[in-house]
Order: sequence, then C-alpha cells, then structure tokens
Amino acid sequence: MYILAIETSCDETGIALLRASGGLSRPKFEVLENLVSSQIKIHAPFGGVVPNLAKREHLKNLPVLFRKIFPNFQFPISNFQTKSKIRKPKKLPVDLIAVTVGPGLEPALWTGINFAKELGKRYGVPVIGANHLEGHLYSFLLPQKKTISSNYPAFARLRTGKQFPIANCKNIFPAIALIVSGGHTILLLLKSFSRWKKLGETRDDAVGEAFDKVARLLKLPYPGGPEIEKLARRGNPEAISFPRPMIHEKGYDFSFSGLKTSVLYYMKDHHRARRVDVAASFQQAALDVLIKKTMHAAQDFGARSVLLSGGVAANKELRRQLKHEAQKLKLHFFVPSIAYNLDNAAMIGAAGYFAFLRKKKYPLSAQGNLEI
Ligand code: KG4
Ligand code: ZN
Repeated sequence: MYILAIETSCDETGIALLRASGGLSRPKFEVLENLVSSQIKIHAPFGGVVPNLAKREHLKNLPVLFRKIFPNFQFPISNFQTKSKIRKPKKLPVDLIAVTVGPGLEPALWTGINFAKELGKRYGVPVIGANHLEGHLYSFLLPQKKTISSNYPAFARLRTGKQFPIANCKNIFPAIALIVSGGHTILLLLKSFSRWKKLGETRDDAVGEAFDKVARLLKLPYPGGPEIEKLARRGNPEAISFPRPMIHEKGYDFSFSGLKTSVLYYMKDHHRARRVDVAASFQQAALDVLIKKTMHAAQDFGARSVLLSGGVAANKELRRQLKHEAQKLKLHFFVPSIAYNLDNAAMIGAAGYFAFLRKKKYPLSAQGNLEI
C-alpha cells in the first residue's frame, strides 16, 4: 500500500511517501520520501510557536513540498488558469492519504486537513485521519538507513530504507513506550501494535516544555532542548542537586513544573552559577525521572522491550542512559533515528497505516487535545 502522509500539527510542515506492508502482525515500512520544512527560524524571535504564523507557513509550504514529490501533478490549481486549460487529473499513484488531525495547534492542523481533503477529492484517493502521538509511538518502525533505488518509475527520486528495525514482532510485546515531546510526556503499556493502555502522563508541564523553559532562563534560543543538551555536555550533572519530582511515588505520572521552578530559584540565588552545570544538572534530574519510571513500569509489567520516541528522544543522553538500563534487564530497546524523532510526516504515514488496519476512523477535523 502506498501512503502519502501530511503533518502540520506544529511548526514543521511535512509530506512523506511510504510503502507499507505486512499488516498488524508484521508491519514493514519503506520511506520513499520524507520532506520536512522547518519553521524554527520564523518562530524563534517570539520564543515559541505562534499559531497563525505556523498556519501561514504551512499554507505556503504544503504545495511546494507536494510538487517536489509529484512534479507532474497539478496542485493547487493556479487562480489564473481558466477552466478549459485544466487537464483532467491523472491518477495519483497512492492508495491512501494520511493526515494529522491532532493533537496540536488547531489553525495549523486545519491547513493539513484541508489540503489532504482537497487532494483526496481531486484525485479520488481516500483520506484517513492520524493521531500525531501514534505517529511518534510507531516511529521506531521506520527504516534506519536510506539507499537510492529506482525500481518504481512513478517517482523521480525514490529513496527507500533497507534496514528494518525489528525482524520478529512477536518477541517485542508486552512493551513499555515512553513518548516525550514539547506537549506530552506519556507512558504506555502495549500488548500489541493495536492494543495499549496509558499508564501515566505529566500532571503539568511536558518534559520538552521544561527543557524549553529552562533554556529561556539560561538565555538560550528556542527550541531549548537541543541547546540545553549542547551546553550540558560541558557541565557536571552532579554539580547541583535539583529535585526529581515524583520519582519515589507509586504510579507512573510525571510532573516537571516544580523542577523548572527550582532552576529559576537557583539562578536567582546563584548569579555566578556556571550555566553548563545548571544545564547538565537540570537535564540529569529530568532524565532520572523519565528513566526510573519507565524501568519501573517495564519491571512491573514484565515487558520484553522499551520504546522511546518524540522530540525529546533526540536527546543523546536520554537515548544512551535508557538503552543502558533496558539492556541491563536484557530488554530490547527501540528508538527511531533522529530524523524520525522530531515531527515528520513519515511517522504519520505509519500511524495512518495502523489506523486503516485497526479501522480507527478519526473525524477529519482539527482536534487540538486528541489523546492517545
Ligand atoms: O515531538 P516534537 O518535535 O514536537 C511536539 O510534538 O511537541 O518535540 C519538540 C520538543 C521541544 O520541546 C524540544 O525542545 C524538544 O522536543 N527537543 C529536545 C531535544 N531536541 C528536541 N529536548 C531535549 N534534548 C534534545 N536534543
Ligand atoms: Zn511531535
């Protein structure tokens, strides 16, 4: 099945083309195209994402990315073309269009949804709604390496992944999935690719949000996560003992706003604090909570594997330390390659494929607070 996927939930415009096969028991994805246009530079001066600016940029970027993948297909129809000049649309060589319907910024989500609907109508292709969080969840299934191939003539630049992350899906469940992004911190127990239970989530700030807010305190640019990570490499993670909120509590919920406030007070009281030590100590405090809760859940539920995803999973220390802990318990550890951690459309293609298989029909409208 060929899937065209569209992602516009936040500040990245993404369009991807995937080939999906194998069904729910042995899913396999090949990523033929994965185009992302980042708006970071546009939002950076505001210190965060401005929804209406994001919408404007998505509207501008979507047709550009679409035409990069399908140079010979007309979309959108230029305002200056007369009706008679419009040729009958050729058949778009995809079986399904998947589009993010939530969670995210509603004005931004609508741009992708409307684009997908128009495309679907014009070329007679069914459109399916995808959950952005399910996209992150399934992103570990996307192939790790890309090679050039040209065995499918419909596409000019065919790039297909060859290295599939899992050989035998049977052995990975039950699995514990940690999804960490700018808007979410979620722990799931997966029994299969289609059945899961939410074990816990953040009660206040998401961990990515905490990284972004602490970055602001340290006068680092937006988005703060990668900047904190860079600074932390030169600091001592044990220099300052920031709190590890809820680390000893039963249950799997998180809380990060207190940690952020502790950093704020520490900075007020210690004007000469080394920024590298603040960054490293904050980062380690946040990672300790994430790792401890995840490994607790893995033990409590007899998990066979640990899955890590979302924007914050781009953090190399988190990847390294969680992998180390999982391997100590002889568990499989899966994390997508960095390109698939940050928001992208390839993961939405995967989520769309699973939604299709599960017959999960999300309404084709923006759902800002959609849950997993
Ligand atoms: O998944 P994502 O791209 O967008 C959302 O769905 O939220 O995640 C973005 C978040 C931001 O808060 C960003 O600061 C954080 O991920 N992030 C990181 C790193 N790279 C991105 N946090 C920590 N370390 C990183 N290397
Ligand atoms: Zn995301």
